[in-house]
Amino acid sequence: MIKVITIDGPASSGKGTVAKILAAQLGFAYLESGAIYRALGWWVNKHYPEQDVSDAQVVDLIASMQLEFKAGLIWLNNEDVTEQLRAESIGMLASKYSSIAEVRARLLQFQRDFAKVPGLVTDGRDMGSVVFPNANLKVFLTASAEKRAERRYKQLHQFDKAVTMGAILQDIITRDEQDSQRSVAPLSYDSSYRVLDNSELSIDETISLIKAWL
Ligand code: DC
Repeated sequence: MIKVITIDGPASSGKGTVAKILAAQLGFAYLESGAIYRALGWWVNKHYPEQDVSDAQVVDLIASMQLEFKAGLIWLNNEDVTEQLRAESIGMLASKYSSIAEVRARLLQFQRDFAKVPGLVTDGRDMGSVVFPNANLKVFLTASAEKRAERRYKQLHQFDKAVTMGAILQDIITRDEQDSQRSVAPLSYDSSYRVLDNSELSIDETISLIKAWL
């Protein structure tokens, strides 16, 4: 029996950090599904830099992607792209191309294959709604847009002194809108989820609460 815990939520809600630690504590596999869409955004941008691309061109590129998660790093066609995928611009591209229904359909099985004994913790937008609808525990992790922008700013400012709080907040609001208003697999939750607003909670407190639910 494979146990699956899904943690969905908006950008910078801390779901990646929480999911990764929880997976390590439980001895489960971990899947960061956003990284798949980010890798696609990066791959499309590499082939068509600064250009408009059609949905069909985006879908066609998927076949040439060999994506691997090894030793905490993300490899695309044998190139370590871990750091490059973190860029705000790549997050925006991921959000854009992930709204294409055919893109999501093509990536579905790849994601499901991460479920292995004894279990999987995964984070994203539609992990509980579409990819693992029968998950043992579905969490919707959120926080106010301002808190999320503050956290993201702290992360990004270490590497890029040019980032501003205002620009990050605007990106977060745009991405929230795009991710929750798209017609396929929008970011949403229903009564099968536990909703957790961690605006005022630390990572440890967030994890403890999820473990108590488990
Ligand atoms: O979690 P993240 O910020 O790395 O995700 C980047 C984008 O990828 C997000 O804005 C929307 C898309 N995404 C998605 O559509 N479905 C998922 N399960 C995960 C991410």
